[in-house]
Amino acid sequence: MDRLAGIRACVFDAYGTIFDFASAAARCSEIPDDKRAALTNLWRDKQVQYTWLRSLEDRYADFWQVTGEALDFTLETLGIATPALRERLMELYLTLSAFPEVPETLRQLKEAGFVTAILSNGSPMMLDAVVRGAGLQDLFDRVLSADAVKVFKTHPRVYEYCQRQLGVRAAQVSFQSSNAWDAYAASAFGMRVVWCNRYGQQRERLPGAPDREVRTLAALPALLAPPA
Ligand code: LAC
Repeated sequence: MDRLAGIRACVFDAYGTIFDFASAAARCSEIPDDKRAALTNLWRDKQVQYTWLRSLEDRYADFWQVTGEALDFTLETLGIATPALRERLMELYLTLSAFPEVPETLRQLKEAGFVTAILSNGSPMMLDAVVRGAGLQDLFDRVLSADAVKVFKTHPRVYEYCQRQLGVRAAQVSFQSSNAWDAYAASAFGMRVVWCNRYGQQRERLPGAPDREVRTLAALPALLAPPA
């Protein structure tokens, strides 16, 4: 298959794509083993649902608040709610691990001349902490938060904000997300999209069509023609 041409900027979703959100519960010994997977999945599901619902209702609250509220729902559902556990998991969310192939992939993209950026629902405080915690601060040219436009992905205003900040056209962006809903929305907006389907999800029945699908980001550099 031909490499995607005309790309100037490689833009990444953060949670699930660059950072492994399962690493918070994985590193928290206070959670009973048989509840760890359920906690990770329900926390994530509620977190993204709340972003969509708040966007739909036009009741924005930043991603730190939404993440905390989703965690409260989750801990209560699993019957393990304590203030100490909540605090510990929120703290761990600020230092999530990056997926192993991320630093080398970013290095290759920068060397090839691409602008690298994050476009995330995460609040600036959260993104700053997680990027630094993983030692990636020199590998991203820009870290862009939906907080600047006070609405969450998949609202087109968020993708529009990204293109404006980077000073490129949507078609000059290669957007990478492991979240199928995000990948489809960026594609519908007009970006080129590489869906990093880490979790083996089915394709969405939504507007948009990712240009390429990969299992990890290690496959990305070979898919993009370097900028002229
Ligand atoms: C992000 C989450 C939602 O925007 O994956 O980074």
